[in-house]
Amino acid sequence: MAFTQDELKQQVAKAAIEYVKSGIIGVGTGSTANYFIDELAKVKHKIDGAVASSEASADRLRKHGIEVFDLNSVNSMDIYVDGADEITEHMHMLKGGGGALTREKIVAAVAKTFICICDETKYVPVLGKFPLPVEVLPMAKSYVARELTKLGGQPQLRNFTTDNGNVILDVHGLVIKDPIAMEATINQMVGVVTNGLFAARPANILLLATKDGVKTITK
Ligand code: 5RP
Repeated sequence: MAFTQDELKQQVAKAAIEYVKSGIIGVGTGSTANYFIDELAKVKHKIDGAVASSEASADRLRKHGIEVFDLNSVNSMDIYVDGADEITEHMHMLKGGGGALTREKIVAAVAKTFICICDETKYVPVLGKFPLPVEVLPMAKSYVARELTKLGGQPQLRNFTTDNGNVILDVHGLVIKDPIAMEATINQMVGVVTNGLFAARPANILLLATKDGVKTITK
C-alpha cells in the first residue's frame, strides 16, 4: 500500500510516543512535530509538560492543554523529539526549514536523547540538497552572505523573521561532506546566531517512516 508523505509523518509521530515516559518533553517544530504534538495530547496525563522550540509549537501544545515550560526553569529533560529536512546514516541533520533552528538546537542541547522523526524522503547520503538555513542578526546579513559565498554556496534571504527577531539566509548549492567542520566554520562567522547543521550534537535515535513501516535506527 502506498502512503502519502503526510501519512508517513503521522505514523512516525505515533511511533515516537513509545519514548514518552514522564517529566518534561522537548518538542520540535514543523509538520512532523505538529503530528507528534497531537499524539502527545493523547498521553498528556503521563507528563508534567513540554518545552517548545518555537512559538508555533508552544501555541499548539497549549491548545491541547499541555503546560509549556520556559527552558530556564528546566534542569533536565530525557527526550527531545523533532523532524529534520535531511538526515544521514551518521545521524547528522540539516534542519531549519521552518526557521526554528536556533531554539531547536538549544532545546536539543539540554535533552539527553534526541529522537529524530522523519519520513524516508529525508534520509540522504550527503547533506546539502536542501538549502542550509543560517540565522543571522539583521545588520550582518550582507556580510555573512558574502562569507557564505566564499564557501561555495549561494545564499538567499528568506522573507521571514525568526522568533528571535533575526533573519534567515538559505544557502543553496552546498555539498556538505564534513558536517561537523562546516557547522563550526559557519558558526564562527560574526553575526551568525546559528546554522541548521546539527552534527556536533547528532540525533541519538532516528525513527524513519518507510512504506514498509517505521524503522528504528541508532548509531
Ligand atoms: C523546523 C525544522 C523541521 O524539523 C524541518 O523543517 C522538518 O519539517 P517538516 O516536519 O515540516 O518536514 O527544522 O525549523
